[in-house]
Amino acid sequence: MTSAFDAYRTSYESVVEESIAFSGLEHGFFLDAKADLLADVFERHFGTRRPNLLDVGCGVGLLHRRLIGIVSEMAGTDPSPESVARAESENPSNLYRLQQGGTLSFGDRTFDATLAVCVFHHVPVAERSGLLVEMRRVTRPGGLVTIIEHNPWNPLTRLAVSRCPFDHDAVLLGARETRTLLAQQGLRDISSRHFLAFPFRRPWVRSVEKVFGQVPLGAQFLTCGTA
Ligand SMILES: C[S@@+](CC[C@H](N)C(=O)[O-])C[C@H]1O[C@@H](n2cnc3c(N)ncnc32)[C@H](O)[C@@H]1O
Repeated sequence: MTSAFDAYRTSYESVVEESIAFSGLEHGFFLDAKADLLADVFERHFGTRRPNLLDVGCGVGLLHRRLIGIVSEMAGTDPSPESVARAESENPSNLYRLQQGGTLSFGDRTFDATLAVCVFHHVPVAERSGLLVEMRRVTRPGGLVTIIEHNPWNPLTRLAVSRCPFDHDAVLLGARETRTLLAQQGLRDISSRHFLAFPFRRPWVRSVEKVFGQVPLGAQFLTCGTA
């Protein structure tokens, strides 16, 4: 089995860097912002207990080093064999599995938390509910299902997506649509936070974004719900 993302095993970061070059920001800025937000969301949900996490559509696993200390154990799955191979070689203490079709090859209720970052816009609309059913199945009752996506209302996000060669198939979904998807699977306490509204690393940025996260200004958003 091959996947369109196999071609980006070694070039994934440089392709992303090129498509966001107009912003003057490096890819690491976006990865750090995601890791910081996930740390906050997990702490609010799990308290001091660190969850074990499955990252669905993990790609080459670029986020995973940043999640050390935030999660207790990490697993990743992706339909791209080349991406999974790189993620495995760079993060030998994590567990990676190739995803074949729409089924996640993990047992029911295996994870405290499941996550999909910039994955759903690549999943055909008719298949999105099925992927979420699977994410919920492998999440323990009381655990957290989290989706991070591009904000389609942000013009700079749209520009970056239009410049990214692996986003040619992207059908963006907004926070409201994502909340509806989670609600359809019976997830509870569903909420969204927009982030990456300000293009600089300042401690106050994260505080302001926490307060104004409901306003769809940021480049991306996080939606989560309790299983
Ligand atoms: C833009 S990349 C994001 C990778 C990673 N989550 C990240 O944020 O760096 C999208 C990933 O979604 C994966 N993907 C595409 N369709 C998928 C599906 N139906 N289920 C799971 N992953 C999928 C691709 O193989 C690719 O690795």
